Amino acid sequence: MAKKELDVLLKEERVFEPPEDLVERSNIKQWMDEQGIADYDELLEKAEDREWYWGEVAKELDWFKPWDKVLDDSDAPFFKWFVNGKINITYNAVDRHMKTWHKNKVAYIWEGEPGDIKKLTYRDLYIEVNKFANALKSLGIKKGDRVGIYLPMVLELPIAMLACAKIGAIHSVVFSGFSAKSLRDRMNDCEAKLVITCDGFYRRGKIVASKESADEALKDAPSVKNVVVVRRTGEDVDMHNDRDIYWDELVEGESTHADAEEMDSEDILYILYTSGTTGRPKGIVHVQGGYAVGIYNTLKNVFDLKKEDIWWCAADVGWVTGHSYIVYAPLIAGVTSFMYEGAPAYPHGDRWWEMVEKHGITVLYTAPTAIRAHMRLGDEWPKKHNLSSLRLLGSVGEPINPEAWIWYHKLIGNEKCQIMDTWWQTETGNFMISPLPITPLKPGSATRPLPGITADIFNEDGESLINKGGHLVITAPWPAMLRTLYKDDERYKEVYWSRFPGVYLAGDVARKDSEGYFWIQGRSDDVVNISGHRLGTMEVESALVSHPAVAEAAAVGIPHEIKGEAIKVYVVLKKDQTPSAELKDELRIWVGKEIGPIARPDELGFVEDLPKTRSGKIMRRVIKAKAKGEPVGDVSTLSNPEAVDGLDNAE
Ligand code: WTA
Repeated sequence: MAKKELDVLLKEERVFEPPEDLVERSNIKQWMDEQGIADYDELLEKAEDREWYWGEVAKELDWFKPWDKVLDDSDAPFFKWFVNGKINITYNAVDRHMKTWHKNKVAYIWEGEPGDIKKLTYRDLYIEVNKFANALKSLGIKKGDRVGIYLPMVLELPIAMLACAKIGAIHSVVFSGFSAKSLRDRMNDCEAKLVITCDGFYRRGKIVASKESADEALKDAPSVKNVVVVRRTGEDVDMHNDRDIYWDELVEGESTHADAEEMDSEDILYILYTSGTTGRPKGIVHVQGGYAVGIYNTLKNVFDLKKEDIWWCAADVGWVTGHSYIVYAPLIAGVTSFMYEGAPAYPHGDRWWEMVEKHGITVLYTAPTAIRAHMRLGDEWPKKHNLSSLRLLGSVGEPINPEAWIWYHKLIGNEKCQIMDTWWQTETGNFMISPLPITPLKPGSATRPLPGITADIFNEDGESLINKGGHLVITAPWPAMLRTLYKDDERYKEVYWSRFPGVYLAGDVARKDSEGYFWIQGRSDDVVNISGHRLGTMEVESALVSHPAVAEAAAVGIPHEIKGEAIKVYVVLKKDQTPSAELKDELRIWVGKEIGPIARPDELGFVEDLPKTRSGKIMRRVIKAKAKGEPVGDVSTLSNPEAVDGLDNAE
């Protein structure tokens, strides 16, 4: 990227007006015309009547029985949407397409890391989902039971999720890169009856042995009665006779028909664990009705998907991005999605661009960390390919820095694709602050809240701020919001609704400019964002102190050129231990094993002591400032101020 060009961009705060043809043929423009809405401002204003807006867009789904009331806020913050409505999200995602020509349309184009390709039409998907739904029932899985899914990016992953939702079982997907221990804790928390995993999968040419991790996890997960194993690599794995069964053997002979369970719109669809500020992950609860409405509406409007599009959301289904925008929303919208099993830039730097060209991808949605990684590999890789099929691009997971924005816009989008920078969270279920095709863009800003969503920036006293950094809040409920934390209503209230009563606290720091554009700066709590993945520093600390050599540990996020943030830890060893390079490596690997490779600290230093308050609490603020080389501020409340200087000598 030419520095001059970047300077011009930053100085001028250049605004990218949407191309006229994009605006004219956009889904949102069509909807506005139908509703007699003239422009963007009027749209946002009208949609402030949330019950009208969401009630109107919910009609685009198939309901077994319509709702009596759009929103029930009588027991806030336990909101209910589409009260007494009956729906099934899988019916909307799959079954309803059987009534139209859509049944013969490709739902998923899938490419494995070794280059194998599979395609499933909506009808193929319908059959696979039904067979697996019946198979689940044959294993005794009923409505409300929890099913753990520990699968990589294979087609059985969406099939398993859709099958659970079809019979009303609650799925809890655990990212395939997580460790045995992470899987065990999550399965125990939700008391899963069944776990679905595979013999292994490909990552950077090597086989990751999922079944081994699952076996390790399940040694200590008494609620799990059965394990279904997908054959992906064909490697021999250890099968427990009375517990394990291969997917293909299980579905053989199952009927290709299965009725969708009539679910209440407030029945739980899934639990997805995410990091918070304590060592224990939070079980985010999403429900069938409001979630379906929210994700479908936002995908349709933001990425403007049309029947002819080939949509690639390059996230992993193990995170919320994949749940909402690889599995449920694109299927409800009836589009063709592309799914890739493996690592980016493998085996060469143009793997992604080769696939964009080969499959004719029209809309690509990824994270700034992936953009930066590709940028570093050099311009020659995307330049080798004809990327003219692309018409829109997207970004999620962390703030996109202007350098990456410009590179993405120029090298990938050939300066003709708008970039949809979507701000949202596992908790919000769908995009919250994001451009629409009609929105003028400012690189680095996620622009404005979507129709039906109201956000603001608050100071400590809950007053609205303009042009100053503050707490990002959502000031009114929305249909796809989390309903609670699984089995922990109190923590739900405490974490999200107690800081400013009646208002949802996102945990991010942001600024709103005078045109109402939001600029997200990062987390305000002890959560770090590594390559777009959330990780609580407390989780890393708990993993470290579970090692026999460690007495105490403090983990903080530090800026990282590609990953956005990386983890740095300070470790106090037990008295009888001696610091060494070997021990350092051992501890870094230990954390990776305890949580998963993404949690492995980039830097680790041994110290004598950690700065603490007089009540014995580790002063994270001070450690964070030190780690980043910033001023530490007031240290008068510390019981051991000498420990602050000790951090400089960490070895
Ligand atoms: C961050 C991912 C800036 C933010 C969908 C949020 C972003 C956290 C953006 C949620 C964005 C997500 N710009 N920051 N466009 N999108 N974030 O739950 O800090 O894995 O709170 O959901 O990612 O991460 P989560």
